[in-house]
Amino acid sequence: MKFFLDTANLDELKKGASWGIVDGVTTNPTLIAKEGRPIEEQIRLICDIVDGDISAEVVSTETSAMIEEGKRLARIHKNIVVKCPLTRDGIRATAALSKSGIRVNVTLCFTAGQALLAAKAGAYIISPFVGRLDDVGYTGMDLVRSITQIYKNYNFKTQVLAASLRSPTHVIDSALAGAHIGTMPFKVLDMLFNHPLTDKGLDQFLKDYAKAFQETPVAG
Ligand code: E4P
Repeated sequence: MKFFLDTANLDELKKGASWGIVDGVTTNPTLIAKEGRPIEEQIRLICDIVDGDISAEVVSTETSAMIEEGKRLARIHKNIVVKCPLTRDGIRATAALSKSGIRVNVTLCFTAGQALLAAKAGAYIISPFVGRLDDVGYTGMDLVRSITQIYKNYNFKTQVLAASLRSPTHVIDSALAGAHIGTMPFKVLDMLFNHPLTDKGLDQFLKDYAKAFQETPVAG
């Protein structure tokens, strides 16, 4: 399973990248707006930090404008994946951009039927939003499970990216469901490290070692 960071914040990306386990980045207009730089500039800076797929989302809503904007975003860097929303115009733009060799991440997916549309349009990635479905009383993870099954049935090449992940449990369940990618906020990636028995065990190992050799090992 690939791990993507769901942030446009450069400090978070630098920290995550330093761990050597970040395969890519997803952004959306909200995340870009939070950082205060124009999208082209921010995305270029992100590409300097993480060497992997970097999703940059269009803000146009009409097909030809989306295509034009998508082409402009794709020119920023070879790793750019253009993000289009799952609307009629978005799917038309996805089909056109995909045909011209630009990779598209279709976002705001909330049903398996929508995911089928994205695969039919040749999307490189589909992004089902787990947390936002949980928020409105559905089990978001069921959607990830349905899409991975349907794509397997028909050998669709579109990768399933579990998005809107809010907890380590969401990440684990996405992996169990067979999602190709999980995108998560920095906080969730950081939480994946934690277990009290890891801390307790390490503390004991270091104490035992120091007692035996009368020295205090330097903490890492
Ligand atoms: C990623 O591609 C999505 O934009 C993101 O995961 C949405 O997450 P949220 O529901 O926490 O805003």
